[in-house]
Amino acid sequence: MNEINLSSRSLALQASEIRIIAEEAMNLQSVIPLYFGESAWQTDPLAVGAAIDALQHGDHFYQPNNGRKSLREAISRYLSKLHSQPIDADRITVTASGTQALAITAQAIVDPGDNVLCIQPGWPNIPCAFEIAGAKVQYQHLGIKDDRWNLDIDRFTNSITPQIKAVLINSPSNPTGWVMPSCDQEVLLEKCRKTGTWLVFDEVYSRLYQKGKAAPSPLDFALPDDRVISINSFSKAWSMTGWRLGWVAAPKATYPTLGKLTEFNIACAPGFVQAAGENMINAGEKAISDLKHKLEQSYTEVETNMKTIEKIGFIQPDGAFYLFFSIDGIENSLEFARRLLRETGVGLAPGSAFGEAGSGYFRLCYANPVTLLSEALSRLDGFLQS
Ligand SMILES: Cc1ncc(COP(=O)(O)O)c(C=O)c1O
Repeated sequence: MNEINLSSRSLALQASEIRIIAEEAMNLQSVIPLYFGESAWQTDPLAVGAAIDALQHGDHFYQPNNGRKSLREAISRYLSKLHSQPIDADRITVTASGTQALAITAQAIVDPGDNVLCIQPGWPNIPCAFEIAGAKVQYQHLGIKDDRWNLDIDRFTNSITPQIKAVLINSPSNPTGWVMPSCDQEVLLEKCRKTGTWLVFDEVYSRLYQKGKAAPSPLDFALPDDRVISINSFSKAWSMTGWRLGWVAAPKATYPTLGKLTEFNIACAPGFVQAAGENMINAGEKAISDLKHKLEQSYTEVETNMKTIEKIGFIQPDGAFYLFFSIDGIENSLEFARRLLRETGVGLAPGSAFGEAGSGYFRLCYANPVTLLSEALSRLDGFLQS
């Protein structure tokens, strides 16, 4: 029999613990699925109509590697307005999702053996994209200060040396909802300028920020040729997870490389999906405010219920759409999430899916109708009491 000699990098990847719960849940009846990071509400008809229209008008063909010009220009106008400084269209590459944006970013900036620095608890796919490209990932943990998730910025920046090729930040964060303050971002960028380190900012939840129109971003103050790469996606703010569309905003000099990497990975994002995204960027602000309004109601429901359940501890998130909570006395979150699923049908993501620092925690996606959340929390309460 032939030896199945797969690459050591692919074999070293850990299967996602979120998927372990999800796969089991998909075989069960009447599950309340709160484990995935997507909203229960469908995409706005503005996107659906634009895609149908594009398909009916023959938008069936390959697209430019970096994305179609009209969408790159729309994203450029959108970002320039949001961040009050010009972000030119030749800095934008359209990708087939935020996940793919991370993959080509990693392939563009790291060589095998390069070190990158990342934060935990955090969405594991970010470091995985860099590991696949051959990087070695080091982690620092968020702490808790004044009842808020907190990064010790001095300790963090002190560990950035010229040997750190890239720093990977996700703000607002999945799963904690932590948002890196602008002053810390400035300190971080200043340090990265000195060490020649790339600053990769995953901003897919940028618009799902409780305290303003968009979360603080390095795009608010970074210079066009700073080594700053901002990753974004249509998945979250525009409820388009299934469409697979995102973008990278990066220094202009990276444009040909990101184009080549897109070519060799997927050639291009589909044209009719780009047409849908363009309509949402140009006319979809109401869809975002409607979603934020629903999220506020859902969060209030979750917070009110959680406060009445003994043993539960959580920190109010500043962004994204997750509640990351702990349960007194529970350390093995995968094992507890499995039992909870089998016995009550409530599906949560185990905190250990987000790294060692997430052990003992659970992530609940509250981008769901209030009635569903209330039912899930009453089942959780009953389970904890039994
Ligand atoms: C932090 C973060 N970045 C990127 C993504 C990827 O989003 P998508 O690939 O759907 O665009 C996700 C999805 O959960 C996420 O949580």
